[in-house]
Amino acid sequence: MKGVILAGGMGTRLYPLTKITNKHLLPVYDMPMIYYPINTLVKAGIKDIMVVTGGNNAGDFLRLLGNGKEFGLKRLHYAYQEGEGGIAQALSLAEEFAEGRNITVILGDNIFEETVKKAADDFSKVRTGAKIFLKEVSEPQRFGVPEIKGRKIIRIEEKPEKPKSKYAVVGLYMYDNGVFDIIKGLKPSGRNELEITDVNNHYIQKGLMEYEVLPGWWTDAGTIESLYKANTLISELRGKK
Ligand code: G1P
Repeated sequence: MKGVILAGGMGTRLYPLTKITNKHLLPVYDMPMIYYPINTLVKAGIKDIMVVTGGNNAGDFLRLLGNGKEFGLKRLHYAYQEGEGGIAQALSLAEEFAEGRNITVILGDNIFEETVKKAADDFSKVRTGAKIFLKEVSEPQRFGVPEIKGRKIIRIEEKPEKPKSKYAVVGLYMYDNGVFDIIKGLKPSGRNELEITDVNNHYIQKGLMEYEVLPGWWTDAGTIESLYKANTLISELRGKK
C-alpha cells in the first residue's frame, strides 16, 4: 500500500508561528512536525510515500526531507497544492501516484503513540471500501464526529456544534482506489473546501466504511493548545524510553 501525507494549508490557527513557515515544519519536542506522520507510515510498513504541500515554503520540505534517507526510504514523492482547496482536493493530487492501489492518507499534523501496522497490513488486502480511526476526545466539536448506532457509523459531521458522540475521526484514513472518483464528484463546503468528511460519508452511505477505536494516545497539533499538548506527550514518551 502507498502512503500520502497531507501537509498544506495556511496554519492560520497557529498564527503568528506560521507567518513565515509551514505548520508541518514547526518543532514538536525534538523533531519537525512532519517527521511524525512519516514515521507513522514507515512503522506501518508503508515505504512508498508522497508528501502534498503548498504555500510559500514548499521548497523547505525538499531541503528538510530530501529523499527520506533518514527514514530508511529510497525516495520521497512530492506534489504541490495550489491555493486552499481543502484536504480532499490535496488528496486528489495523489491519483497518478496511487496507480490504482489502496492508499493510507495521514494528515501532517496528526501524531500517534501506537503503530497502525496491523490495520495497514489488513487493509492492503481489501478490494473495496475504506477504514477510519476514532479516538475519544474532550472537545469533539473541534473535529469530524461520528454518529454511531449499534456498531455502525451512520454519518460523520464536520465540527458540529452539538456532537453526536464523544469521538473524533482522527486524521488517518485508508481508501480503495475509488476515492479519487468520489473526490471528483464533491462540491465545496461552506468554507469553500473539498472536505474529507464528505468523502468518508460517501463510503458510509454505500455501506463500505469500517472503523477502529485507536489504542494509545493521539493528538493533532494544529492549534496552540494541541501543539503544546503534542510537545508534552512526546516529551513523556521520550522519558519512558
Ligand atoms: C481535519 C478533518 C477532521 C479531523 C481532523 C483530525 O480537521 O477535517 O474531520 O477530525 O482533521 O485532526 P482540521 O484539523 O483540518 O480542521
